[in-house]
Formats: sequence, structure tokens, C-alpha cells
Amino acid sequence: MKQQLEAIRAAARTALNDCTDPNLLEKLRVQYLGKKGELTAILKQMGKLSAEERPAIGQLANQVREDIEAALAEKQQRLAEALLAHKLESETVDITLPGTTQKVGSMHPLTIVENEIREIFLGMGFSVADGPEVEYDYYNFEALNLPPDHPARDTQDTFYITDNILLRTQTSSVQVHVMEHQKPPIRVISPGRVYRSDAVDATHSPLFHQIEGLVVDKGITMADLKGTLELLMQRLYGEECRIRLRPHHFPFTEPSAEVDVMCFQCHGEGCRMCKGEGYIELLGAGMVHPKVLEGCGIDSSVYSGFAFGLGLERVAMRRYNIGDMRLLFENDYRFLEQF
Ligand code: DAH
Repeated sequence: MKQQLEAIRAAARTALNDCTDPNLLEKLRVQYLGKKGELTAILKQMGKLSAEERPAIGQLANQVREDIEAALAEKQQRLAEALLAHKLESETVDITLPGTTQKVGSMHPLTIVENEIREIFLGMGFSVADGPEVEYDYYNFEALNLPPDHPARDTQDTFYITDNILLRTQTSSVQVHVMEHQKPPIRVISPGRVYRSDAVDATHSPLFHQIEGLVVDKGITMADLKGTLELLMQRLYGEECRIRLRPHHFPFTEPSAEVDVMCFQCHGEGCRMCKGEGYIELLGAGMVHPKVLEGCGIDSSVYSGFAFGLGLERVAMRRYNIGDMRLLFENDYRFLEQF
């Protein structure tokens, strides 16, 4: 029995020594120390020993068990260490490698210009109003002094949805919504999309953007309109920028004007960019027609107002020297990332 125990010890040591796999290690533990293991099998035969033999063999058996347990524990630790070392080795990160760059988007030129104009007007105490793009004929035309048979309707190639409902052709429609709901003093701008059935070319698009402005209060005059627009243009294009008002006609304003800004290229001298004019047309404006005020329930003998409508594409194209409006809508990355 003594030899058997020694043999088990030797075999277990060799097996544990050669073991490199944690799963095999567990199998070896069961094989030698388990309930049905080799050592247990021997111990079960202890009863057959004489009383003199038993203590020595018992002691040896315990020693063998302890030895195997110790060898097992040591191997377990070594394997765990090896595993960790391997893991650390294989998972190292080379922090000197170049990273993958994240592409950062940029603001669309129309958004930049719109935000800037918003800021300028917020600074003058205006608030921002919003209105629907799918609009009733009434708000887009009729309430703006354009009755059904008015010839000026033809100039705005309207997308009709029904006889009565359309895609708004101008942000002027928001003027009516605002005046219906708000008592003077009114000071609002309203940026947004407008639609006209125009063929696409370098200066036309069926969808474009306007910013509407409306001020209604007691004693508002054309001078307030001019001062406000001059300030806007100087903020947008620099202190030396000058504006010019030319008489014009809009059904919803009286008097009406088209507003030109001094050409940035030639400063009024006349060049190719302004077609020799020295000035470039930028927006429409005027004093709100008394009919429009009255239609919205505002007493035109007490209040007066001015309004203007500005094409955002035009402002952005002038600002960034963009020669073709299509660039603003194609969303070519190479174009957009320049802003
Ligand atoms: N709604 C006009 C257009 O789209 C622009 C305009 C002109 C707006 C005069 C106004 C205004 O508020 O007073 O052509």
C-alpha cells in the first residue's frame, strides 16, 4: 500500500507538472483527489491493515494528499498568471498609431445667414414667429389685399393643393397670422420655406427661403423701415454698406419699395457683378396697407406699420459669392464643408 501511495504521488506530480490546460487540471483533481479518485480508493482499503501498520500508512496517505493539493494549487496559480499575461499581451493597444478621424459637419450657408439675421433682430427687440407652409389662399393672398382675380397672383406661380389650399409663395402670410393673434406693438420676423412653380436654374428654385419682418405700432413711419433695414445690412455686410429704396408696388404695402444694397465689389461705382448698377436688389418692403391692418382687426387710424420680405438665398449668395443657387440645394459635401 505504501508503494501504491508513492506511485500515486509520483504520477500525480508528473501529470500536474506537464499540465498546461485549466480544464485538464480539474480532471486531474478529480482523478486523484475526488470521491471516486485513486487516493480515496486506497484509503478505503485502510480497514484491511493491521493496527500497527495503520498510523504510518495513514500519515503517508495524508502527506500524499497534501502534496497533491499543494501541487494542484501551485499549478492553478501559475496557469492563471499565464492566462493573464497572455491576455495583457494580446490586448495591448498601440497608442502611437494614428486614430480614425471623426468627420465634423458644418453649418449650411443658409442656416448661417438665417441665424445671423435672427440674432440681429433679436437684438432690436423682435421676436420670431412661425407659420404653416401648407396655407389657405386667404392668408397667402386674400388677406394681403390680393383678391381672387388680382393680376399679381400670376407673378407668384403657385402650387395649389385644392382651390383653397396651397403651398405658401411668401412668408408674408405669417403677417396675417401674427396680426390676428397679437395686439400692437408688434415686432416680429418670420423665417421659413416658400414655394413657387419655377423651373430650376442658377437663380431660381421651386423651394427657397424668405425672412419676413413686421412692425406695427403707433407712429411707425417709412423712416423706421429704412433705419431698420440699414442697420440690418450694415451688420450683415459691414459699416460702410449703404441701402437705396426704389418705388415699387406690392398689393399689401402702400407705399412700397424695393430695397437695394450697395454693390460689395465696386462700392457703388458699377461693375459686372451689379451689371453696372452700383446697387443690387435684395428685398421688398413697404408700409403695411391699411386694408391689411383693418382685415386683421387693427385700427389703421391709430396704428401704422412696416413690413419687408427678404430672400435668404440671395443674401447668402451675395455674402459668400456663390454664383449658382443650385449649389445651396444639391448638398455636395465638397461645397458644404467650405463653410
Ligand atoms: N412677399 C414679397 C415677395 O415674396 C416680398 C415682400 C414685399 C414682403 C414687401 C413684404 C413687403 O413684407 O412689405 O415677393
